[in-house]
Amino acid sequence: MFTIKNLHEAPEHFNTVANWIYQQWWQKPGNTIEVVKAPLREHLQSGTFPVTLVALSGDKPAGSVLLIEDDGVEALPELKPWLAALYVAPEYRMQGVGKLLVQALEQHAQQIGFSDLYLVATDRVSFYYDLGWRVYTKLVGNTGVTIMHKHIGTTSSTPHVSTHHL
Ligand SMILES: CC(C)(COP(=O)(O)OP(=O)(O)OC[C@H]1O[C@@H](n2cnc3c(N)ncnc32)[C@H](O)[C@@H]1OP(=O)(O)O)[C@@H](O)C(=O)NCCC(=O)NCCS
Repeated sequence: MFTIKNLHEAPEHFNTVANWIYQQWWQKPGNTIEVVKAPLREHLQSGTFPVTLVALSGDKPAGSVLLIEDDGVEALPELKPWLAALYVAPEYRMQGVGKLLVQALEQHAQQIGFSDLYLVATDRVSFYYDLGWRVYTKLVGNTGVTIMHKHIGTTSSTPHVSTHHL
């Protein structure tokens, strides 16, 4: 049984989340964990945008995902916001946590008024495809990444059943 919390309301998990992101994507000669911690501190402030969601198993952190303004895709400066740094700790993988985090982030983005989301997929296109995301474009170059998109619609003032565009 997993629950989702906003890092803003669970700041005790800040270091764990920062470590996950650093080890997975940023640990390179010349970098320190500050490259992750500095921007992530902003997510402790408002809890709205940018935001980090954390999946918890009891009170243990199991995974996290970010909603950010810019994921460094220089070729597409007009797109925002971005789902980024989806990470599930190895011992919690293949139990639906990744899916739960993506869906919770989509819901949060919709609630704060975004109607479209983007992400950079390296080798996980089918994972996102199964969650209703579609290929937006493929960027050629040394990285060869796929940009994916999901239209999440907008919320009206009255609560309604969210629509998933598959
Ligand atoms: C990618 C990642 C977030 C998936 O998290 P997860 O909690 O294991 O994913 P889920 O259990 O929610 O899986 C959702 C679906 O994807 C499938 N899936 C997940 N990981 C998979 C894998 N490595 N290979 C094949 N299928 C996989 C699951 O079978 C599941 O399908 P189902 O709903 O039909 O059962 C996790 O493996 C991870 O953190 N990897 C390292 C970081 C990373 O690559 N992040 C993504 C950057 S684009």
